[in-house]
Amino acid sequence: MGVILVAGAIGVSIWQSDSPRENSQDKFTREFTGSYARAAEHAGNTVEVTLRASATSVEIIDGVQTHVWAYNDRVPGPDIRIALGDTLRVTLANDLNQPTTIHWHGVRVPNAMDGVPGVTQSAVGPGDTFVYEFTPPDAGTFWFHPHVRGSEQVEHGLYGTLVVEDEYADQYSQDIVWVLDDWLLQEDGQLYPQFNTRHDLVHDGRWGNVITVNGSPSEEFRAAPGERIRLRLVNASNGRVYTPDFGSLNASIIAVDGMLVGAAFAPGDFELAPGNRIDIDITVPEVGTYPIVDRFAGRYNPLGSIRADGSAVTTPDFAIPLAAHMPAWQGAADSTPDLVYELDARVGGPYGVSWTLNNEAFPDSTERRLELDTFQVVRFDNASTRLHPMHLHGQFFKVIVRNGNPVDEPYWRDTVLVNPQETIDVALVPTEEGSWALHCHVLEHAEAGMMTTVNVS
Ligand code: C2O
Ligand code: CU
Repeated sequence: MGVILVAGAIGVSIWQSDSPRENSQDKFTREFTGSYARAAEHAGNTVEVTLRASATSVEIIDGVQTHVWAYNDRVPGPDIRIALGDTLRVTLANDLNQPTTIHWHGVRVPNAMDGVPGVTQSAVGPGDTFVYEFTPPDAGTFWFHPHVRGSEQVEHGLYGTLVVEDEYADQYSQDIVWVLDDWLLQEDGQLYPQFNTRHDLVHDGRWGNVITVNGSPSEEFRAAPGERIRLRLVNASNGRVYTPDFGSLNASIIAVDGMLVGAAFAPGDFELAPGNRIDIDITVPEVGTYPIVDRFAGRYNPLGSIRADGSAVTTPDFAIPLAAHMPAWQGAADSTPDLVYELDARVGGPYGVSWTLNNEAFPDSTERRLELDTFQVVRFDNASTRLHPMHLHGQFFKVIVRNGNPVDEPYWRDTVLVNPQETIDVALVPTEEGSWALHCHVLEHAEAGMMTTVNVS
């Protein structure tokens, strides 16, 4: 933490107030105002949901019952939908034979509801329950998953989605969620039983051999020509990154990681890394089948398709949804980072390979601090040759520099893919107090140490 930052925050260093750093920091902090709701307002209903985590089986491949772990016996778990202003009260019932928790990925929850064992709560033991209650301050596409032994629990099928509906909820013809996951299945259709293998650890985690959308390897979504669809994509994979290609469909990204963007854009080469979400606005074209594929790894992997069918309907006509305010943060790329994390690996630790942030492997890591309500820059410097989608709990950030080059991504994120040897600077104004996890969302990397905490105060 820089001296100027600390002194400025307690308001005693008048003699420093002319420094360019402080001036630009104040300016960027002011420019943030109005970007998103300052606090949650309970203005609606209280929605009660029970999520029972247990072993069960589902049909992923035709005719085969695959043993999984799931919420309420389905993979993905429930798609919880509430309106902005509603309070959500979720009772987690743990019927697994190991401890678990639920983390609400991307939701600005009160710190105690964040689901990180040893940081925000104790893990929920077998047979126990825990009640999560919060009022999401933001509309958008979020998801939830355990934060205990994530590489095994998420891979087994423990995840679901939370959609907080905005004012466009009734305007789209249909509003759907596609949860992307990949499964490493053996020939008998069961999950490959070894987790956190050396292979997973020295690569980008566990990549599967069957890709599913909402639990199906051949998801087909039917709609009438002319319908305007909001398609919400969620990457729930342990390690796989997708570059969704919409082919001849005219698709626009209108939200990233839940939050509406400042300017809609074509998906292009957008990398949907583990944890990331994008909302797509699509108008269904003439009758036909429109495949959506992934081309991240240079090969084409079918994801699912949209089947346009039936007689044409009138397309709902409304302006593309946009964020109310998005700071440009012109010149912010010159800021000296307040926190720097070097991403790397070393030999040793419980799995034989440890993934590290500044040479520390969680839980043996040092908590850093970010100043509440103050513009700051965090640098991720990937010294390794693997992929690291870095996720910060409880806050949104904006990418401002990639490999030394200023970039203007007109949207917030909670997870950014740091490619091999890449350095990324993100800027943020932390708005949520507490001790928040910061980790790689390749779950094997996180399991093997690539996690720390940041205290916002
Ligand atoms: Cu989606 Cu800490 O995780
Ligand atoms: Cu990683």
